[in-house]
Amino acid sequence: MKTILCTKKDIYQGDLILVNRHHPIHPHASFEKELVPVDGERQPGILLNIRARAQLVRLFDALRCDQQIVAVSGYRTLQEQQSIFENSLRENGTAFTHQYVALPNCSEHQTGLAIDLGENKPEIDFIRPDFPYSGICQAFRERAAAYGFIERYPEGKEAITGISWEPWHFRYVGYPHAVIMHERGLTLEEYTEYVKEFPQSGPHLFVETQKGMAEISFVHLADCPSATVRIPEASSWELSGNNVDGVVVTVWHPTP
Ligand code: DAL
Ligand code: ZN
Repeated sequence: MKTILCTKKDIYQGDLILVNRHHPIHPHASFEKELVPVDGERQPGILLNIRARAQLVRLFDALRCDQQIVAVSGYRTLQEQQSIFENSLRENGTAFTHQYVALPNCSEHQTGLAIDLGENKPEIDFIRPDFPYSGICQAFRERAAAYGFIERYPEGKEAITGISWEPWHFRYVGYPHAVIMHERGLTLEEYTEYVKEFPQSGPHLFVETQKGMAEISFVHLADCPSATVRIPEASSWELSGNNVDGVVVTVWHPTP
């Protein structure tokens, strides 16, 4: 068995962190070291987390859609989010801005794990790009979960996410979490709660995937500074904080 130590600082980093108006970016979290351009030649200024970008490129390659779908907005600094928010307040008013622009420090664009995508056409709206439920955009949407992406602000979940329906905003959460959320119709807010049903001490969530058996569990770190997790020697593993109170552990069991 391998032993992994989880500490409180692990709560605030990782592909599953929940960022919204109730859970802002933690002051000690940093995302800059993992940023790469989405498309260095055509759009060098749009950056994304390196894991998210690799999966996005694989999905674009599978769909051969790079002429039809364009990246509109990826990583944003706090200052950029602040200026988008303030400009929108001036141009679009308070109600619209609170519906479609996250408060500064509460935007998952600041993590590098979110990307706004638009149908490629001469005029693309920066805050609300068109990304219809038809054609190539819908084909992208249907395959996104298999590559670790979720449609983050779906219709009907506005009261949970705090943001209006945004068909263009995709969030990388990793595989198989995106597939579980997609199949069960869970937002990241809901999945964050769901995973807590599988603490270290209780039964874990086992999911049969195309990559083998995944075992998912939760380490609660609110009341203790650290915890150890035991992982079978032959298994690979990933950790992600939830940006609230603990860490999600994903263990990949080798196929016998
Ligand atoms: N449009 C999303 C909510 C953001 O500003 O992060
Ligand atoms: Zn967005």
